[in-house]
Amino acid sequence: MEQYIIKGGCPLHGEVEIGGAKNAALGILAASIMTDETVLIENLPDVRDINVMLEAMSEIGVKVERLSPHIVKINGSGIGDVSIEYEYIKKIRASYYLLGALLGKYKKAEVPLPGGCNIGSRPIDLHLKGFKALGAKVSIVNGSICAVAPQLRGRHIFLDTVSVGATINIMMAASMAEGRTVIENCAKEPHVVDVANFLNSMGANIKGAGTDIIRINGVEKLHATEYSIIPDQIEAGTFMFAAACTHGDIVVKNVIPKHLEATISKLLEIGCEVEEFDTAVRVIAPERLSAANVKTLPYPGYPTDMQPQIAVALAMAEGTSIVTESIFENRFKYLDELARMGAVSKVEGNTAIISGVKGLMGARVSAPDLRAGAALVIAGLAAEGITTIDDIVYIQRGYENFEGKLQQLGARIEKVSSDREARKFLLNVG
Ligand code: UD1
Repeated sequence: MEQYIIKGGCPLHGEVEIGGAKNAALGILAASIMTDETVLIENLPDVRDINVMLEAMSEIGVKVERLSPHIVKINGSGIGDVSIEYEYIKKIRASYYLLGALLGKYKKAEVPLPGGCNIGSRPIDLHLKGFKALGAKVSIVNGSICAVAPQLRGRHIFLDTVSVGATINIMMAASMAEGRTVIENCAKEPHVVDVANFLNSMGANIKGAGTDIIRINGVEKLHATEYSIIPDQIEAGTFMFAAACTHGDIVVKNVIPKHLEATISKLLEIGCEVEEFDTAVRVIAPERLSAANVKTLPYPGYPTDMQPQIAVALAMAEGTSIVTESIFENRFKYLDELARMGAVSKVEGNTAIISGVKGLMGARVSAPDLRAGAALVIAGLAAEGITTIDDIVYIQRGYENFEGKLQQLGARIEKVSSDREARKFLLNVG
């Protein structure tokens, strides 16, 4: 089993290059099968979730040609099966995007119902409500969602909750429905816009992505395209908080600063200096961070996927902070791991009260999920002494070469898979 081993206390310095957005890529890969022509996708992140998604697609007959780690050619003309195996949905929830894509193209799809996950129960009722509104018959048979529609017809759909997944899934199906669909109370995340732009580049007619209302005029066919995925705002934000927590000074390159506004505003509030350039941001951290309150919200609010990372900063800040999680019901589990490193916090419902301590100390901890795992790495980089992180497979789901990029910034971190490798690292770092 691979682990990260970290010797903390080393400020990060230098430059880091951000990859393509994992969450945009998942939607775009699903959408790419909606044409029989060949699609070329660039700036694909080479992370576990993406590789699982590509496997799920290959399994149903999609031709996947990886030209390089970050470029893939997709051809969906040979799809022979519209049902996805449970094995894939278990590994990656977002393979449910294939439901909207297959339903749009073939008017039928079968995808296992995803269960809950480590951050809470995650229903997909709104996705199904949208498909039903478009005319699909949706039933649950032996744990799978079966959606069939003799014909999909555009409709007016109101989403009761702002949902990224439902917005993208319904938008895909509606792209190939007959007539006009209006989706209200949409998610406005940059990756919703990226999937819409991608579909439009394939000949779809989607307007309003990035606002509350998306209007779609269905088309009969989609065609070939070449498309480059937007940079990953969460990977960028994670490095920005790593700099903040290690009293570092780094330049995060290949980003869209506009997508980072909520993160930048919190970094300023906790005492960092942030310089914005056209496609880069520089974060300069103070000697001691200050406390702040934060509430996660749909975009453009502060992202829930950046909640554990800011919590690490607040755990080391001067004063008491309140973190309110308004998107997921159980996203504070990692605070128990952080407590093992000396953090002091108390969770009440969807709120965590964090009393800042002067410094964290190294410990052996486990990554409970993707973003919390990344936050524990940040904690390890900031802590005094040695931190070992188990279950890093979660982190690898969404961060490409995380340890390599951190090493480039001067961090003393190694991915090890045996005691021998761990001992070697410890000898090297002294
Ligand atoms: C996406 C992101 C995830 C991020 C989340 C919120 C991907 C692949 N994942 O997840 O990293 O943390 O957005 O920004 O892009 N809900 C319902 N019914 C539904 C759908 C959602 O009640 O049918 C609720 C969820 O339980 C949650 C809220 O809506 O409380 C938002 O979830 P949603 O935006 O759908 O998250 P995901 O798309 O799953």
